[in-house]
Amino acid sequence: MQQFIDAITAAIQETTGLEAGSFKLEKPRNAAMGDFAFPCFLLAKRDKGNPAKIAGELASKLNEIFDGIEAIATGPYLNFKVRRTDLAKAILGTILGQGASYGNSDEGKGKTIVIDLSSPNIAKPMSVGHLRSTVIGAAIQRLHDKLGYKTVGINHIGDWGSQFGKLVAAVNRWGDTVDLESDPIPSLLKLYVRYHKEEDDDPELQEAARAAFRELESGEDGHVRAVWRNLTELSMKEFDRTYARLNVTFDEVRGESYYEDHLDTTVDRIVAAGVTEESQGALIVSLEQFGEHVPPCLLRKTDGTTLYATRDMAAVFHRHELYNFHRCLYVVGGDQRLHFQQLKHVLDRMDIDWEDRVEHVSFGMLRLPEGKMSTRQGKVVFLEDVLDRAVEEARKIIDEKNPDLAKAAEIAEMVGVGAVVFNDLKRERIKDIEFVWSEVLSFEGDTGPYVQYTHARLASILRKAEAGAMENADYACLEESSSLLLTLGNFPAVLQRAAEKTEPSEVTQYLLSLSREVNSWIAANRVLGQDAGTTAARLQMVEAARQTINVGLGVIGVGAPDSM
Ligand code: ARG
Repeated sequence: MQQFIDAITAAIQETTGLEAGSFKLEKPRNAAMGDFAFPCFLLAKRDKGNPAKIAGELASKLNEIFDGIEAIATGPYLNFKVRRTDLAKAILGTILGQGASYGNSDEGKGKTIVIDLSSPNIAKPMSVGHLRSTVIGAAIQRLHDKLGYKTVGINHIGDWGSQFGKLVAAVNRWGDTVDLESDPIPSLLKLYVRYHKEEDDDPELQEAARAAFRELESGEDGHVRAVWRNLTELSMKEFDRTYARLNVTFDEVRGESYYEDHLDTTVDRIVAAGVTEESQGALIVSLEQFGEHVPPCLLRKTDGTTLYATRDMAAVFHRHELYNFHRCLYVVGGDQRLHFQQLKHVLDRMDIDWEDRVEHVSFGMLRLPEGKMSTRQGKVVFLEDVLDRAVEEARKIIDEKNPDLAKAAEIAEMVGVGAVVFNDLKRERIKDIEFVWSEVLSFEGDTGPYVQYTHARLASILRKAEAGAMENADYACLEESSSLLLTLGNFPAVLQRAAEKTEPSEVTQYLLSLSREVNSWIAANRVLGQDAGTTAARLQMVEAARQTINVGLGVIGVGAPDSM
């Protein structure tokens, strides 16, 4: 499809003298009017003429140059209609030719995108809250991979901070009441909850926690550090199981603790920039200039220990040094908006010129029917349990609809996990989402399973076709199918927009409308058993649609089953 856009764009440039990049072709409001539209307002303004008249004149000029593209003036718009057989041949040819690399480009060549994703606090169960960061972040990374960027996905594990002092104190006191080794996460949760229940009335416990964190930060390699190390290792093992189910891998797992040796130099650097001040014994960067209500960024507490923000400052400098990033994205929930504003404000006050390349990719909350979560009270919904239940429900539906399905367990896993992931990416990320079990798994609604089912349906048609049946296609039979063709041809542009806006929902929404369009197309166009040329052309359409859905699902991290 790009070749038509390029040809039309070049011809407009040549005849009007408009500069490259100064205009963009649009989609006509009504598909019957054409495939691409050029609004003539800009030109009318330049030439102080009437846009409709200009459209008319331009149409006659272009029609003399074009072969296979018709220019039609419609009011102030100039519409273009590509010869139907050329359109089909070009779009299907591209998709079938490119296969899994359909939509790839080199727009990101030479540029690095750093993506901070998932980043759960360890020694706590990974909750559904971390699911969003993981799947949104991974989708954003895959999108950029396709566009030729070098991407670095970093899991900035929360493995440092005063809560570890609390955990160590709790392990010391009640460690023998739980079975950490064989049941690590629930055990840690129990200790964590117990600590918070008892700390208020137990100053000794509080002091033990503070002392433990001080010892941890002092670098001493003794008992405290050994307990901490054990806790992090046990937790990571648990998390890795979930990551494997979600098909997510990281280029770097670099927790907060990684920056231990960077903290002094980081603080020195900020002090040297002349933006810090002492406040009641603590070291802060005042951010008043950004608004009365912007609290200062706290870099070092009175007792000398550092904070979440200090470690994020260290991390952002480290990332910039290592990768000289084009963009550094933090895929973190909206509740940390202030934290990332502060991070950027400190960079701004330091006159760091790459401050605007640091972006908080925020997202809304995921609300489960089970209610609001609170780790402190032990009210958490375990992500693994959600995935297990989704897979179980998917299995029930499959057993009911398709009892003889081979590899049912494998496909149920793909559909169940896929449903949860798709649901998470379905709406604009900034919106809160309500998790409704029956909706997430429905095979008919706007769901992952619906798109997967469409894929399986296309695959099944292809399985039934005879070998070589796709050859010698007669594209004339696709005369009425240009809307679907254009949708398929639009996929690369969708990926581009999704990456630019860091918005995976552009892809999920595209997949949903493509699926609806394909399903009604199949209902209206018999594929198998037609004359050879027709069957061949329609099979190519089926394969191109299957391929596009497959690639699209891959980008968002959802499996594409061939049957279900
Ligand atoms: N561990 C944090 C949390 O769960 C999220 C970390 C996000 N990344 C960052 N660089 N601050 O709340």
